[in-house]
Amino acid sequence: MTELSAGTPLLTRDIMPRIATEIRADKDTLLSGLHADSIRALLEQRGVLVFPQIHFTDDEQIAFTRTLGTLASEPRGEEMYTVSLDVQLNRGAEYLKGSLYWHIDGTMNDVPILASLLSSRVLARSGEPGDTEFCNTYAAYDELAEADKRELESLRVMHSAWNTLFYYEPEPRIDILRRMMSIGDRELPLVWTHRSGRKSLVLGATARHVVDMDFRRSAELLVRLRDWATQPQFVYRHRWSVGDLVMWDNTGTMHRATPYDPRSGRQLNRTKLEGEEPFA
Ligand SMILES: [Fe+2]
Repeated sequence: MTELSAGTPLLTRDIMPRIATEIRADKDTLLSGLHADSIRALLEQRGVLVFPQIHFTDDEQIAFTRTLGTLASEPRGEEMYTVSLDVQLNRGAEYLKGSLYWHIDGTMNDVPILASLLSSRVLARSGEPGDTEFCNTYAAYDELAEADKRELESLRVMHSAWNTLFYYEPEPRIDILRRMMSIGDRELPLVWTHRSGRKSLVLGATARHVVDMDFRRSAELLVRLRDWATQPQFVYRHRWSVGDLVMWDNTGTMHRATPYDPRSGRQLNRTKLEGEEPFA
């Protein structure tokens, strides 16, 4: 463990060499905002920050999120979202089925959210636990061969929310497909050059095809890059304990949930930070 900055100590420990750092601190220290700049810098460097069993209440999670930037509200104005595949707990459970596949949040928006904070409230009572996996898309880009980097530099990819529908519903009803299509499509760079100068890969389940590329070559490239970016050395898998808080830099990672029974009771609460940087 190393001490992150002066003042009340914030102890950090890197979990994997290329992704994820654990932070140990008490609630008051985190809620004071004293370390907000350090936490944000560490988030950008490490992709995922884990606060084991910090046990924030809903209000505390919202307050902590606000120390780090601008809280992004949900479509109906709520400050917090219940992540559950159970339709009793989450009216959007159907749409959430896409979260079981590697993705970046907000690829349909001008500016994707900066980060999400997820806390565990109820563990699955039976069956598979439903872990959350993250991969570092900065590290995945950095470690590509130079020839690959040159080839990918200028490519653009069409992203479509409806593309994710086929991951979990291979033969969708036409009205469901049209509803997903109404969300729109967006052309994004394959390599995102951030304001910092760092570069990351923009991939995930919404990535439909590489613009102006033969469909077969395009599919092969997107699958090859997803396979590359999600290799074990770039991935951190979080196994939840009640009270854990995990936050991730949505602009430099992909994430997915591993399967769980929708009726198992598993519930996570999510807050988000407003995006600050467009894709290109
Ligand atoms: Fe997500």
